[in-house]
Amino acid sequence: MKGESVAYPMFEDNGLTVDQRYKEIQKQGLLKVKLPYGEPCWLATRYADVRTVYGDRRFGRVLGLNRDAPGVWPGALAKNPTLLLNMDPPEHTRLRRLTAETFSPRRIERMAGWVQRLVDELLDDMVAQGKPADFVSVFSSNLPVRVLLRILGVPETEAGEFRSMVDRATALDADAQTREEAQQRTVAHIKGLIAERRARHRDDLLSELVDARDQGDRLSEEELISLCMALWHGGFKTTLWQLGKTVYTLLIHPQHWQELLANQELLPAALEELWRWIPSFKYGVPFVRWASEDVELSDGTLVRAGEPVLPEITVANRDESAFPHGWELDFHRVDPPTHLTLAYGPHYCMGAHLAHLQIKLTVQTLLRRFPTLALAVPQNQVLWSKSTFMRSIEALPLTW
Ligand code: HEM
Repeated sequence: MKGESVAYPMFEDNGLTVDQRYKEIQKQGLLKVKLPYGEPCWLATRYADVRTVYGDRRFGRVLGLNRDAPGVWPGALAKNPTLLLNMDPPEHTRLRRLTAETFSPRRIERMAGWVQRLVDELLDDMVAQGKPADFVSVFSSNLPVRVLLRILGVPETEAGEFRSMVDRATALDADAQTREEAQQRTVAHIKGLIAERRARHRDDLLSELVDARDQGDRLSEEELISLCMALWHGGFKTTLWQLGKTVYTLLIHPQHWQELLANQELLPAALEELWRWIPSFKYGVPFVRWASEDVELSDGTLVRAGEPVLPEITVANRDESAFPHGWELDFHRVDPPTHLTLAYGPHYCMGAHLAHLQIKLTVQTLLRRFPTLALAVPQNQVLWSKSTFMRSIEALPLTW
């Protein structure tokens, strides 16, 4: 990639802020950037371009396995070719098929009963603790981990151990050795769970995957372990953080909260709008895509074969050519296009429906049980984490 590139990240965004200077960058089209690690790459901020980069077969992940991948942090994703996120179709499709049924909208909707009971139970804990209560430690740190353990078929007594392994394996401020050790412990733990299923079959996702390995030979042992790791890492903290940001966003927009209290039919559109508007990642995303042939993007720039592109989901989600007045939170959009928060195309988030269900049941229940819900501290005193690659709230004191 020839020519000057701009040092990225260009702006220091905190909390929910997104720098307005991105509007101009988006107008210009693709920008050549250099991240702190790896080779230079293109930054895509337009909705149409980010969709192309995620959805067009001419962009993939495998090409990057032997390259110096751009990243804001070192080694954002190990170069393990058996990781789902490091695969392209058709290998990728084969693995996705194995879990497609478990994570399908129909199967996830059938979980609504027990997920609702968990939501109620955790909100009872919040009431028992008394006001003000920290929503993160009482509720959001517990719901996704318990949901995921139940789906995988792991006893709830392991929730603490599970949480601490994921914490250490993903902490950006931990040294490489601590992260590596935590990864190895997670792998050892997963191997133990797989061995248990081999000794005694159960009615859970893990047993289904072990069967696919042992009886159908539809995935290798490494792929089986990697798939469990992907669910482990992808399914817990992401939802934890999204829950906190969703509640926070509603509470700092009291007129929107009131609107939902008055008209719950607005909820489905409101939830999609919250997914679109709330920024997930701090900078771009950790996983660039590599062009396998020359591709022209919307501003006429030719991305050459072999060049990497970084999709900027947050900015693309505000592109006014796709979402009129896209920088505003508006629950009354008419037939908006699909937002890109959970990506698009073959790597579209595997847990999308599960995350949707948890957010929906939580917001619905909060509206019903806690109509006077409010932040218990001024907005600027809410603590945001510095050590996570996604934007996340560390503590969210609430009153009602
Ligand atoms: C707020 C919640 C979530 C967010 C914002 C989120 C975001 C994303 C994004 C952006 C991707 C695409 C990454 C890329 O291709 O570069 C992705 C993929 C993935 N997500 Fe999620 N996710 C969430 C919840 C979940 C849950 C609950 C699970 C599992 C139960 C999950 C499992 C995965 C997996 C396994 C992939 C890789 C899919 C593939 O490579 O084919 N995620 N997620």
